Amino acid sequence: MESELSNKPTRRRSKKRKLSKRRLKIKGRKRTTEKGISPLVEKYWRQRYNLFSSYDDGIKMDEEGWFSVTPEEIAIRHAERSGGGCVIDCFSGVGGNTIQFAKMCHHVVAIDLDPHKVELAFNNAKIYGVEDYIDFIIGDFFQLASSLKGDVAFLAPPWGGPSYKTIPNFSLDLLKPKDGYSIFQAAQAITPNIIMFLPRNVDLRQVEELSWLSSPPLNIEIEENYVQNHLKGITAYFGGTAFGKLNL
Ligand SMILES: C[S@@+](CC[C@H](N)C(=O)[O-])C[C@H]1O[C@@H](n2cnc3c(N)ncnc32)[C@H](O)[C@@H]1O
Repeated sequence: MESELSNKPTRRRSKKRKLSKRRLKIKGRKRTTEKGISPLVEKYWRQRYNLFSSYDDGIKMDEEGWFSVTPEEIAIRHAERSGGGCVIDCFSGVGGNTIQFAKMCHHVVAIDLDPHKVELAFNNAKIYGVEDYIDFIIGDFFQLASSLKGDVAFLAPPWGGPSYKTIPNFSLDLLKPKDGYSIFQAAQAITPNIIMFLPRNVDLRQVEELSWLSSPPLNIEIEENYVQNHLKGITAYFGGTAFGKLNL
């Protein structure tokens, strides 16, 4: 009896401790810094000028946008290689690539499934003064592909969030919302001139296989993309975009 009594307060104390731990966890999830940035995106926020050099002029992002936008220097490189015609940006996100294509190309069609992303991309394109060169479409690329016309199809599909870095050999099957082969095949309905931006740890043997989906096989060139000496991704140039050959 005595021991039962002496146990009770201890149990209640540990229950209390568990409850307050849970409250702390919930508080942690909601925490934001004084700049209104959640701890999850703070690392990307510190690189904001690498993402958008005009960040301070009113660029708007959402959480997915922070970790999925193509760094500006790489987006400029993609635009330089696109030949200057009409580009279909099939997964346009918050507009990192779309903006650079619009600065250098005749016209851009920017597609995203998420209406909020399209709103953010429109805002961001206005900051760069290029919104008039872009048709923004809210829609599913896979449903739209067969009705699209363009000189170049640009593919920067989701890589499945920041955890992609932990995978030793990133398979094309891991791309979202469908595997890389299906994404590439859908783009081939538009044009054989395809630029694909992929994780730095992607299985290069599989990327080369994509060129064999066409008969005769497409030319392919692989490029590593660095920002301040950090390897950020791999770009595969197919068809006329390979080896800088596309002249429109
Ligand atoms: C990696 S982000 C693109 C980043 C973009 N290149 C940039 O620099 O801002 C991929 C985008 O694909 C969009 N997406 C996912 N599934 C899609 C689909 N079926 N059709 C069109 N867009 C889709 C997501 O909403 C996301 O914004």
